[in-house]
Amino acid sequence: MTQEQWTSVDRYITGLLVPSDPALDAALESSTAAGLPAINVAPNQGKLLHLIARIHGARAILEIGTLGGYSTIWLARALPPGGRVVTLEADPKHAEVARANIARAELASVVDIRVGRALDTLPAIAREGRGPFDLFFIDADKANIPAYFKWALDLSRPGSVIIVDNVVRGGGVLDAVSSDPNIQGVRRFNEIVAAEPRVSATAIQTVGSKGYDGFALVLVI
Ligand code: SAH
Ligand code: DHB
Ligand code: MG
Repeated sequence: MTQEQWTSVDRYITGLLVPSDPALDAALESSTAAGLPAINVAPNQGKLLHLIARIHGARAILEIGTLGGYSTIWLARALPPGGRVVTLEADPKHAEVARANIARAELASVVDIRVGRALDTLPAIAREGRGPFDLFFIDADKANIPAYFKWALDLSRPGSVIIVDNVVRGGGVLDAVSSDPNIQGVRRFNEIVAAEPRVSATAIQTVGSKGYDGFALVLVI
């Protein structure tokens, strides 16, 4: 199996099941033009997030790691009337690109972008009584996944769903003595989840256009 094959199959799936969409296409184009890294979720992954949000009936969604707003648009489009996405982004340039992309998708009124390091902006979210959130998508700096997971638990209710991207890292997650803080963040997150009686969780390995990685799915019980 090769990256080329994974990419071709992703293209095949996306061609059939994830028809191109002007606002989503424009979001990726403007992100590339602005020099943002191409680390957004793949189209078929974005649609998975969208479908999970709809299956769950999520009305309040918290995303950590906005980038150019590509995953944000997928999530926001799953909301029922009156629903909201709060999305946290540390890089002001990324947030500005996202703001324009979200406005173009006509979602400005349902998406609240908070600029700043998430560990600095999360306390205000809690203070403002913005929780509980029905769905969380954790996709920012991987070293802080354990801290974001604890915040998500604090801002959750029984029945909330927490999705964490990039928990396999090409298999790097197996390296217990890795000096990479991203790997250590993922490993510590897995251990915290394993020991947390308030959740039921699994993780799934994925291959595709973004290589070999995976996501965790956590249900707050
Ligand atoms: N969810 C996006 C991709 C996010 S990429 C999508 O799929 O379209 C990760 C993002 O997290 C980057 O934009 C990066 O600037 C942001 N980030 C990194 N560290 C952060 C922090 N401490 N707080 C908030 N955002 C952070
Ligand atoms: C990276 C970050 C991501 O969220 C992702 O999905 C893929 C790669 C990165 O920082 O390299
Ligand atoms: Mg990611």
